Amino acid sequence: MGACAELHRRSIHDREAFWAEEARRIHWHRRFDTVLEYSRPPFARWFVDGETNLCYNAVDRHLADRGDQPALIHISTETGTEKTWTYRELHAAVNTMAAVIAAQGVGRGDRVLLYMPMIPEAVFAMLACARLGAVHSVVFGGFAAASCASRIDDAKPKLLVTADAGLRGGRAIHYQPLVNEALRLAQHPPRKVLVVNRGIDPDFRPLAGRDLDYAALAREHRGAQVPVAWLESNEPSYILYTSGTTGKPKGVQRDTGGYAVALAASMDYLYAGKPGETMFTTSDVGWVVGHSYIVYGPLIHGMTTILYEGLPIRPDAGIWWKIVAEKKVSVMFSSPTAARVLKKQDPAYLKQYDLSSLRHLFLAGEPLDEPTHRWLHEAIGKPVIDHYWQTETGWPILSLAPGIEPAQVKYGSPGFPVFGYDLKLLRESDATEAAPGEKGVLTIRPPLPPGCMSTVWGDDERFVNTYFRTFPKQLLYSTFDWGLRDAEGYTFILGRTDDVINVAGHRIGTREIEEAVQSHANIAEVAVVGVADPVKGQMPLAFAVVKDQSKIDTEERRAQQEQEVLAAVDHHLGGIARPKRVLFVSLLPKTRSGKLLRRSLQALAEGRDPGDLTTIEDPAALEQIRGVLGQ
Ligand code: PRX
Repeated sequence: MGACAELHRRSIHDREAFWAEEARRIHWHRRFDTVLEYSRPPFARWFVDGETNLCYNAVDRHLADRGDQPALIHISTETGTEKTWTYRELHAAVNTMAAVIAAQGVGRGDRVLLYMPMIPEAVFAMLACARLGAVHSVVFGGFAAASCASRIDDAKPKLLVTADAGLRGGRAIHYQPLVNEALRLAQHPPRKVLVVNRGIDPDFRPLAGRDLDYAALAREHRGAQVPVAWLESNEPSYILYTSGTTGKPKGVQRDTGGYAVALAASMDYLYAGKPGETMFTTSDVGWVVGHSYIVYGPLIHGMTTILYEGLPIRPDAGIWWKIVAEKKVSVMFSSPTAARVLKKQDPAYLKQYDLSSLRHLFLAGEPLDEPTHRWLHEAIGKPVIDHYWQTETGWPILSLAPGIEPAQVKYGSPGFPVFGYDLKLLRESDATEAAPGEKGVLTIRPPLPPGCMSTVWGDDERFVNTYFRTFPKQLLYSTFDWGLRDAEGYTFILGRTDDVINVAGHRIGTREIEEAVQSHANIAEVAVVGVADPVKGQMPLAFAVVKDQSKIDTEERRAQQEQEVLAAVDHHLGGIARPKRVLFVSLLPKTRSGKLLRRSLQALAEGRDPGDLTTIEDPAALEQIRGVLGQ
C-alpha cells in the first residue's frame, strides 16, 4: 500500500487517534477533551472543549520565529501597486482593524458581512473578525445588490465592510450604489458600513450616520492590541453562501478548531508547502478557495501568501509566471478556466520566466479537461494536480498528496480520496457500490472530517434534508457529483447530479438564474440549463416564454427583449450569472405531469441526443427548441 493510501486508511480506521495527532499542528489555548463527539448524527463536533483561534494561529503564533518574514504580498495590476506585510506588520494591521470593528460593538458570535474587492483590508477584516470571535461572511464582490441583500437577511450582520470600488480589467465597480441598494432591499440591514476608500470612485460620499471612513478610524486605533477571543473549537468561524437546487443560497457554517487542523494538515500533505515559502492562489476572497488557500491555510502554515487583484492576461499573459519567478512561488493554485484562458495565448509567455521555484500547480473548482491538463503539464514542466472539493468541505476531498509521495498524475482525474473522507461511489438506483468503471453518486459516509461544514447557518434541518437524504435508508452525505473510479483507483468527476452549473469555476444554481429571469415583467416561464463552453466550462442558456408576444414580434424587438432579460439577471445576481443567450419559445418541453425535461433540453442545447422522450406532453415543444437552436 502506498503512503497516501496508508494515511487514508489510518484516518478512517483509527479516526480519533489520527486527528488527535494532526491537532498538534496548531496552537490550542486549552487542549480538547474529546477528539470527536458524534452522538447526534450527522452533526459532528471535533476537538470538543478545545479552545483556539484562527487569527492567533495564522498570525500571532508566527511572530516569534517569523516576525520579519513576508506574510502577505498584495499585487494589483489594476492600480499598478505592490505592497508587502511581514508577519509583524500583518499583526499590527489586523489589530488595528480588529479595534475599529470592535469599536462598533462587534464581539464574539456577531456577524460581519464583507463585500470587498481583492485588497489587503479584506484579509485584515477576515482575520480581525476571527480574532474577535465574530463570524465573517464574505460576499463575492461581483455579486449584485440583491444577492448581497439576501445574504444580509440570512446572516443579520451588525456591520458591513466594503470599499469605494473594485477594479477589473481597468473597469471600476463602484460599491456604494450596490450597498445602498442592498441595504434598501434588506429587512435586517446593518446600521453601520465601514468603507475602505481607495480613492477610485470620484462620486463616493460617505453617508452621514451610516458610513465610517476606515482610514480615519485606523489612525485613531493605530497601535491597538486587541486580545484574542479563545473560541471553543466548534464555535463558528465564518459563513459562506453557496448555491444549490433551490433559489435560496445556503449559508455554509464553518467551525474553528477542526478547520485550522484540516487546513494545516492539507498544507503539508497535499500542497507540500513549507513554512517560509510562498503560495500563490489566484482565486478571490469571496470564494471558499480564497478563504482556505489565500488567507487561512498558507498563513496558518507560516507561508507567504499572495493576494492578486487583476486578470491573468493583463498587462500580458505572462503576468502570473512573472509573479511566480519574482516571488519564488513554490505552490500555486488556480482554476481550469484560467488555464484554458492562458492556453489560448502565445506559449512564449511561459518560456520567458524562470519557474524553477514552483513545485506543483494545483487546479480545482470545475472539471479539468484532459487536453488542457496535458498542455499545462507539458508547458510548465511541473506536475499539474487536479483536485476536487466543495464550499461545504472547505478543503480537498480528492487529490494527489505530493507532501507524502510523488504525484502520479493521470490526466482528467483529481486522484484519490483524501485522508479523513470515507468516500463511497454508489449506484443511484439502490445505493449499492458502483463497480470499477461504473458511474455512481459520490458520497461521504459521515462523520464528515474536521473543517467541513457543521450545519447550514441557522437551519440544522436544512443541513440534514439537503445533504443527507439522497439515499433514504442510509445516512450519507451527497456531494451531488457523479463520479467513476477506474481499476487503479483514480476517481473521475462526471458532473453534478443536481441543477448546479459551473461557470468559469463559479458555482451557480440554475434555479437562481431562472428566478432572476422571471423578475422581468414579460416573462411567463423560463428554463435555464448549463451548456458546454470551450473556455468557461459551462455557460447558462435560457429558454423563455413571454406573456406579451408583441414584444418579440420583430427581430429588433426580440433582441431588445433579450437585452432587457439579460440586464435583469445582471441586476439580480451579477454579470457572472448572465446567460449566453435568451431564446424565446411558446412552450417548454415538459412531462405529462408537468415536470420540465431539463436533461433533454440541455442535451439538445449541446447538440446531443435528448434521450427518452416517451413522457413528453407535447412533442411540438421539442421542435421549437430545435428551431431556436438552429438545428
Ligand atoms: O461539481 C464539483 C465542482 O465544483 C463543485 C464545488 O464548487 P464550489 O463549492 O465552488 O467549491 C470549489 C472548491 C474547489 C463540486 O461539487 N468541482 C470542484 N472541483 C472539481 C470539480 N469538478 C470536477 N473536477 C474538480 N477538480
